[in-house]
Amino acid sequence: MLEDQIKQLESDALVRIQAAKNPDELETVRVDVLGRKGSLAQINIGKLSPAERGPAGKALNAARQTIEAAFEARKEAFAAGALNERLQAEWLDLSLPAPGPRPGSLHPVTRIQTEIEDLFTSLGFAVLDGPEVETEYHNFDALNIPAAHPARDMQDTFWLTDGNLLRTHTSPVQVRGMERLGPPLRMIAPGRVFRNEEVDASHEHTFYQVEGMMVDRNVSVAHMNYFMKTLLSAIFHREVTVRLRPGYFPFVEPGFELDIQCLICGGPGCPVCKQSGWVELMPCGLVHPNVLRMSGIDPDQWGGFAFGLGLTRLAMMRYVIDDVRLMQSGDLRFLRQF
Ligand code: DAH
Repeated sequence: MLEDQIKQLESDALVRIQAAKNPDELETVRVDVLGRKGSLAQINIGKLSPAERGPAGKALNAARQTIEAAFEARKEAFAAGALNERLQAEWLDLSLPAPGPRPGSLHPVTRIQTEIEDLFTSLGFAVLDGPEVETEYHNFDALNIPAAHPARDMQDTFWLTDGNLLRTHTSPVQVRGMERLGPPLRMIAPGRVFRNEEVDASHEHTFYQVEGMMVDRNVSVAHMNYFMKTLLSAIFHREVTVRLRPGYFPFVEPGFELDIQCLICGGPGCPVCKQSGWVELMPCGLVHPNVLRMSGIDPDQWGGFAFGLGLTRLAMMRYVIDDVRLMQSGDLRFLRQF
């Protein structure tokens, strides 16, 4: 009997639909049973006599509807299960208080810069600012470094096409300070400087310096020493071993290099101190008479000292950072430590 065959097919299909473990298996059942070449479609009522055809067709339709309904129900159950799983996984308590923005921190160079500004402000120094795009005159000529002078080669310069340059040091702010404020003058000038350097663990093309200058009557190396020592003990909060060597800079006479013993290795040598145990920290000297004269200050009446301090290098010493490239990496894992 065809009706029996239909009943059997229906109950088999319902069992398979219930047994399907996932939407893919369910789809296989659907294709097997309800598909165009599926088992329902195979049942041919065309051969039956017209009298038998009616009831058989009805039975076939009823079976199809029952199977389709079971299929839809199972499909919905799978969808609801997936949604529940997602809700479980992505569960979120909206009644919790918001965590708020994560507090930021100051860059190690900024921290040191602020401390130095505070210290020198308390000593009566003005904190001056100067342009990063500088004129050739302020960066070189007014510092006693004329065009053909070999000292220009000490600083590999980024020249701009209009004849200006990215300042190679903060010393031009000395000139601007003298021009604008005149003597007596006590100033520092922190800021960013640029050189065409090959970048490695201890060289960057962009770094920070602080310039310092004092112009007054009867200024001597002893005054300079006093300020240098006050500065270093304030920065390192401890005694540091220093040495003074003669140093050449066209804008000071006499000129010195103040070195400190490497705070990273303590003397034996490491990549930061280039294995020497010493780090050049502070070139300094008495302001050259030509420099005073060019900025309209009479060197017979006034004298001064000046120093340049590598802020970036200082921050590396103080926080024991062994690779200068970290400073501008923007890496938050680095920055959050400060
Ligand atoms: N401007 C010099 C440089 O960056 C450093 C310097 C040397 C600054 C001696 C000074 C100084 O004020 O007196 O190489």
